[in-house]
Amino acid sequence: MSKARVSVIIGAQWGDEGKGKWVDILAEKADIVVRFQGGNNAGHTLYKDGQKIVLHQIPSGALRQQTCMLGAGVVVNPTQLISEIETLNEFGVDLSQSQLWLSARAHVITPWTIFQDCQREQKSTSPIGTTKRGIGPTYADKAHRIGLRLGDYANTESRHAWIEKMKAEAFGFSDFYQHARDDWREFDLVAEKIAAYVCDAEAKLRHAIKDGKNILLEGAQGSLLDIDHGTYPFVTSSHTILGGACASLGLGAKVIDQVWGVSKAYATRVGEGPMTTELFDEVGAYLADRGKEKGATTGRPRRCGWLDLVALRYAIDVNGFDSIILNKMDVLNDLDVIKVAVAYKHPQLGEIREMPWDPNVIAKCEPVYQSFKGWKCDLPESGKIADLPQAAKDYIIGISELCKIPIEMVGTGVNRHNALYK
Ligand code: IMP
Repeated sequence: MSKARVSVIIGAQWGDEGKGKWVDILAEKADIVVRFQGGNNAGHTLYKDGQKIVLHQIPSGALRQQTCMLGAGVVVNPTQLISEIETLNEFGVDLSQSQLWLSARAHVITPWTIFQDCQREQKSTSPIGTTKRGIGPTYADKAHRIGLRLGDYANTESRHAWIEKMKAEAFGFSDFYQHARDDWREFDLVAEKIAAYVCDAEAKLRHAIKDGKNILLEGAQGSLLDIDHGTYPFVTSSHTILGGACASLGLGAKVIDQVWGVSKAYATRVGEGPMTTELFDEVGAYLADRGKEKGATTGRPRRCGWLDLVALRYAIDVNGFDSIILNKMDVLNDLDVIKVAVAYKHPQLGEIREMPWDPNVIAKCEPVYQSFKGWKCDLPESGKIADLPQAAKDYIIGISELCKIPIEMVGTGVNRHNALYK
């Protein structure tokens, strides 16, 4: 594995690539694990001693007792955060103040922004299919410069001042405040519990980097859900790509030593938006079943299809991945034939090899497939990629050549040890 000091791990598809497990593996060598965007819309499923644990905000590195940080670009749901801290406690992980750094600059998801997200999704004629966790409205309030930062939330005086200002200035807030008194009471109570963890986390991180510590930056969602470079408007509201890490954490791009992209060996997507390789046949149903493709946050079924190399090559370019981790290879074990989309075909525009900016164009595209022979057997649970059956190696080599990128790790099961290395 790499000797990089500052590494980043990013989803190369539409999220749910299984990043959590790889963060957990890579975090073994890290001193600090950092989330840099998104909020509790994410869900990382991990297994500790055979027991399942789902984390939504705290970086997966917590399981290894490393220092965990949520950076300025994250939006934080305080109530859920406290319940995650408590869940970790039940698993024997005690996150002390010095082990959890919450950026005072991060914005808070409030009952108001959750309410707005739900309202919009319910009333819109073209909903995004959001997780209804208040993510979009929280980032919108931040951009409107009426958001509540964690540092101000943790301070009783400034928290109350923010509420009064919102009552006076934000349309509809006052009525909502009256109606949701219980939610706001809880919001107040939780602030006291959170306060101990709030600090100038970015300054601490920069010091740690100068001191030569090993840092792992953990992306949430996936590259195709990036607010600027994803399939807008069917995207999340933050920068999920590498650039988002530097902006969120106040780091120069040159401190990053290694960028990992995680892709499933096939494709999934939750929510609305184009997905060219989506399958509606028995293979799609097989992938959903074998891959247990249900959203970790909302429990919604994930749409499934073949691996889309147009999208993957795009993710490689917009992030500058050094290498790919190909996950969930074992899900393909029973298939006779495995396909990957190498290009799109549009009825008017012909063959397309670059990801179009326009979701309406993508929606009209058909995939151009290349087929690989299935390996039709179980894969080794651990060891080397070289130990895979020839047909599985051919699949990996094929993807690597078509995308011009090394594939250095392969996932063959849900547990920590189900990983193959180059
Ligand atoms: P939001 O992030 O809740 O605003 O949802 C916007 C879009 O991103 C929707 O299509 C969601 O399904 C999708 N999304 C948000 N978080 C995740 C995630 O962690 N995995 C996969 N999709 C996500």
